[in-house]
Amino acid sequence: MKPAILPSLLAADQGRLADEIRRAADAGADALHVDVMDGVFVPNLSFGPAVVELAARVAPDLPRNVHLMLAHPDRRLEQFARAGATTILVHAEAQCFVEGALRRIRALGCRAGLVLNPLTPAAAALPFLPLVDEILQMTVFPGFGGQAFMPEALPNLRALRAAAPDLGIMVDGGVARDTIAEAAAAGANLFVAGSALYRAADMAAEIAALRELAS
Ligand code: DX5
Ligand code: ZN
Repeated sequence: MKPAILPSLLAADQGRLADEIRRAADAGADALHVDVMDGVFVPNLSFGPAVVELAARVAPDLPRNVHLMLAHPDRRLEQFARAGATTILVHAEAQCFVEGALRRIRALGCRAGLVLNPLTPAAAALPFLPLVDEILQMTVFPGFGGQAFMPEALPNLRALRAAAPDLGIMVDGGVARDTIAEAAAAGANLFVAGSALYRAADMAAEIAALRELAS
């Protein structure tokens, strides 16, 4: 499967978001990953729908991959769909009826994704496979950028790939030159990278390097 690279806006210069979104588009990113945190589901606060709207306005051709780290993502789906999300991802660990949320995301015209925390068993995702367009296996505990990649999540990737040979399987957290190949070998084909891309002097070269290592 052809690898796709998604810069995570969390690692961008927050004072120049429009420029940082354009930088990802100009560097050849496949989509923009937007981390939405409520300070409850994870101990951090980040973006809301206005940032998704900004991305849709300044780089309309760059799909918006919206990762909801919310205790109650089901209460916000309409808002993010309206803001221009292309894909909306909800956590299996969220305090909501996950099946209903995934069906609602598709009904709103978006692609649906399910997220697993690093230590959640892969089996938790299996009942939802027919309802999703992609699965995101976290490779750090969600909440902050710049953490170390957790190889503990690799067995999940292998199990998910075996269960869903044709599905988009994404990894998020600590993805960089030294970790992307093992994630790819375990079955991932979609790669979120925050620090590795936004801290790079030449984002286009870094995206190309990651793509190459994942191929
Ligand atoms: C963490 C977020 C990630 C984060 C990744 O909760 O979901 O998307 O931005 O950052 P890096 O690539 O720096 O680990
Ligand atoms: Zn994320």
